Amino acid sequence: MLVRELNRGKCKTYLLACERDRAAALIDPVRDHIARYLAMLSYLQLKLEAVIDTHTHADHRTACFELGDLTGATVVMDRNAPAPRVDLHVSDGDTLAVGSLTLRFLSTPGHTPDSMCILAGNSVFTGDTLLIRGTGRADFAGGDPASQYDSIIGKLFALPEDTVVLPSHDYRGNSASTIGEERRMNPRLAGQTREGYVALMQSLQLPLPDRIQEVLQPNQSALDDDALNFPSLAQLNEVRQIPPLELHRMLAHPPVPLVIDVREESEFRGNLGHVPGSRLIPLRTLAGRSVELGPDRESRIVVVCRSGVRSSTGAAILTSLGFEDVSNLKGGMLAWHDAQLPVQHS
Ligand SMILES: [Fe+2]
Repeated sequence: MLVRELNRGKCKTYLLACERDRAAALIDPVRDHIARYLAMLSYLQLKLEAVIDTHTHADHRTACFELGDLTGATVVMDRNAPAPRVDLHVSDGDTLAVGSLTLRFLSTPGHTPDSMCILAGNSVFTGDTLLIRGTGRADFAGGDPASQYDSIIGKLFALPEDTVVLPSHDYRGNSASTIGEERRMNPRLAGQTREGYVALMQSLQLPLPDRIQEVLQPNQSALDDDALNFPSLAQLNEVRQIPPLELHRMLAHPPVPLVIDVREESEFRGNLGHVPGSRLIPLRTLAGRSVELGPDRESRIVVVCRSGVRSSTGAAILTSLGFEDVSNLKGGMLAWHDAQLPVQHS
């Protein structure tokens, strides 16, 4: 198994390859370095089979979608990843073969709801869940320190002590550690209770990452930032979130709300299906097509997507265009399915 870090910076991209079959995967590739990755793959005579993001990044634009388009590699993300352009959604315990290597995915929500770690051989790629002598922040984009603590203690610290830890970020010049070292020496975790960890993470008061506006929503939606005027974080935070059961109740009693699904058509007609009676207007066309909704400017609108993230963006866009009563389906079609509510396939 060949493992190389390719960025030589604070933000890490790992090349993972089976040397026997010349098959490779890239973990957390960064859009600015696509040419370097392609050159490296060609130099090493490796075929890129999978591009994997350990979570939706807020600090850099992902290269996954573009590398998927350029090379035909499978784009892999967690089941809860919001973006439309994901070929393979994985859940806890799922595996993927890359040549003779077996990658095993561990669902580790906390840094974001779609955070996962990847086990390959004696190494674990920990994303921003577990860093060397630190942990990823859990204070925005759906982060939750309590579930992060559970993910680290319950999943990562249950791995063998000598498992090599390879994180997505390092700000102190470290390159590798082990599960045993982190259990003993990680200052945020060693001897820490769940309550203590939550209090510690809530006390950090970190500034938001630079360029978050130009990075997070484009990564969540796989849309270019210049293709759409993304709403501000303040606008997103104002979007009313309604749970699946509430929408289901609303649909049973007139006047029923207008349900707008902002996913791509392939998703609308795909496995998850859609809310019965909902209307498809993909996010990238929503602002332009909002004139079609003119007669509904004052009616109640509920926006829907896969995980509730793109639809929050959609709801904020409609609100900014003067629609008066716009809500978001919290958790999207994934939560609608989890609540076992009726689904339409067409
Ligand atoms: Fe991150």
